[in-house]
Amino acid sequence: MTESNPADDLLPTPHTSVAVGEPLVVLTDVDKYFGDLHVLKNINLTVGRGEVVVVIGPSGSGKSTLCRSINRLETIQSGGIMIDGSPLPSEGKALARLRADVGMVFQQFNLFAHKTILENVTLGPVRVRRKSKQEARAHGMELLNRVGVGNQAEKYPAQLSGGQQQRVAIARALAMDPKVILFDEPTSALDPEMINEVLDVMIQLAQQGMTMIVVTHEMGFARTAADRVVFMADGEILEEAAPEAFFTSPTTARAKDFLSKILTH
Ligand SMILES: Nc1ncnc2c1ncn2[C@@H]1O[C@H](COP(=O)(O)OP(=O)(O)OP(=O)(O)O)[C@@H](O)[C@H]1O
Ligand SMILES: [Mg+2]
Repeated sequence: MTESNPADDLLPTPHTSVAVGEPLVVLTDVDKYFGDLHVLKNINLTVGRGEVVVVIGPSGSGKSTLCRSINRLETIQSGGIMIDGSPLPSEGKALARLRADVGMVFQQFNLFAHKTILENVTLGPVRVRRKSKQEARAHGMELLNRVGVGNQAEKYPAQLSGGQQQRVAIARALAMDPKVILFDEPTSALDPEMINEVLDVMIQLAQQGMTMIVVTHEMGFARTAADRVVFMADGEILEEAAPEAFFTSPTTARAKDFLSKILTH
């Protein structure tokens, strides 16, 4: 972290009033095809409120498609996805609200290039959450400070390092007061020296009770912050276990083979 210690209260409204573990994201018998290609095969996955689930698996196993389906950036062909007790809406205002409830942080940051850092963080809250500009700016500045980039607020994304841009992307997701945040390989596009500054912010979020689904091969993050590791291969969930159990004694040959490759990297 470059400046101010990211505060202890990164989350504006910690989910302390509800029982941790109550189902927040529930996938039931989900199938997804791209043409003839069966990319998600009968996926059943429940993520409890406050839970941090790390998804790992070989390239092409369907990890991104899983995240994108939960945010309805992709449609599924069968099965159901529920967020906080409601099925995914298919369009209109309900879909915009869902996108606000389900934050997403991508590998490539996806900030708006022609908006300042602060505008990137305030746009959604003003348009979708109907916050006043003033309120959105105040909250946005608070979040930018907490992820350590408050002094970059008036700059444009291209003027920031990758690590800084990714922390802005996390602040942008948080600005919507999401119920869950999906991270799809958030550190894979970063230079090695910037990975930890982003992981530190994510670890803090996890410790503060944010519900997170994180596609990452960062084993340190999984060991420190994850409640559960989900291993996918060929569109299927092959294993689910606590991080230590999974890393030390995977049960399937696919997982053993995958771990031997990434751990000796
Ligand atoms: N828009 C698309 N159209 C057609 N096929 C797609 C599309 N997106 C993904 N696929 C295919 O679906 C499968 C799952 O892709 P996905 O991107 O979900 O995998 P992944 O596990 O995220 O892989 P990686 O680790 O490389 O990011 C792959 O075979 C991929 O080629
Ligand atoms: Mg992917």
